[in-house]
Amino acid sequence: MSNIQDKVVIITGASSGIGEAAAKELASKGAKLVLAARRGERLKKLQEEIQNNGGQAIYKVTDVTSHDQMEELAELALQEFGKIDVLVNNAGVMPHSFLYKKRIDDWNKMIDVNIKGVLYGIAAVLPTMREQKSGHVINLSSVAGHFVGAGSTVYAGTKFAVRAISEGLRKEEAANNIRSTIISPGAVTSELINAITDMDLKPGIEKIYEGAIDADAIARAIAFAIEQPADVAINEMIIRPTSQER
Ligand SMILES: NC(=O)c1ccc[n+]([C@@H]2O[C@H](COP(=O)([O-])OP(=O)(O)OC[C@H]3O[C@@H](n4cnc5c(N)ncnc54)[C@H](OP(=O)(O)O)[C@@H]3O)[C@@H](O)[C@H]2O)c1
Repeated sequence: MSNIQDKVVIITGASSGIGEAAAKELASKGAKLVLAARRGERLKKLQEEIQNNGGQAIYKVTDVTSHDQMEELAELALQEFGKIDVLVNNAGVMPHSFLYKKRIDDWNKMIDVNIKGVLYGIAAVLPTMREQKSGHVINLSSVAGHFVGAGSTVYAGTKFAVRAISEGLRKEEAANNIRSTIISPGAVTSELINAITDMDLKPGIEKIYEGAIDADAIARAIAFAIEQPADVAINEMIIRPTSQER
């Protein structure tokens, strides 16, 4: 039996890209899924697809920038399934631009979704995981959480922060048997680059994404981290297209 079977897994940003692919992968391995994002129609369609394939999933429209909504999401998982085994903090936004353009709203959005969203997710599940003396938090960072490129400064800042938060969580909760995993993808096909409107940057990024790999590749990495025995923690993975140099 897979070590994913019957695990209760919350996935944020499940309405597209990596989150959606992870939901399908984990459902096929017997996870009980709690799907979250803002676009309810997408979540409903995904839930139906999972159920039609014999999997288990519920969903809740959730904005990760709301602490209250994240607490309600964790509460729903507990009500429906009685435990929380894994949180995949996957929701993220990447409206790249150069600093001098002062796109303050975009900076705030990245900080709110990519950093605060991750923290609110951790806050929502941690009391339950500490009580259970088991749990696993998987945070999506990025290659941009390792290297800063011109134009990706604020995004990289948020993804460096995700790695710092994940490592701090690992240290704080090691004694409580809670695993922490950082997943740092390179270019992956999804809706992420649609938010880039800075035309001084967009063509170059589109060029990089011509070599993007499928979101399934990241979904498999997430499954790999979850399916390890409880005493084995995969703390960090970088997954790039083979052809991606930086
Ligand atoms: N694709 C890549 O090349 C790549 C590379 C490195 C890292 N990543 C990271 O991987 C993660 C997933 O991104 P993706 O590539 O799959 O992009 P995507 O297709 O754009 O998916 C992003 C997801 O985040 C959700 N989201 C955005 N803002 C939200 C909010 N305020 N509340 C709740 N959900 C929100 C979106 O759903 P709604 O709009 O329905 O809310 C969507 O489901 C992100 O953290 C991203 O930074 C991606």
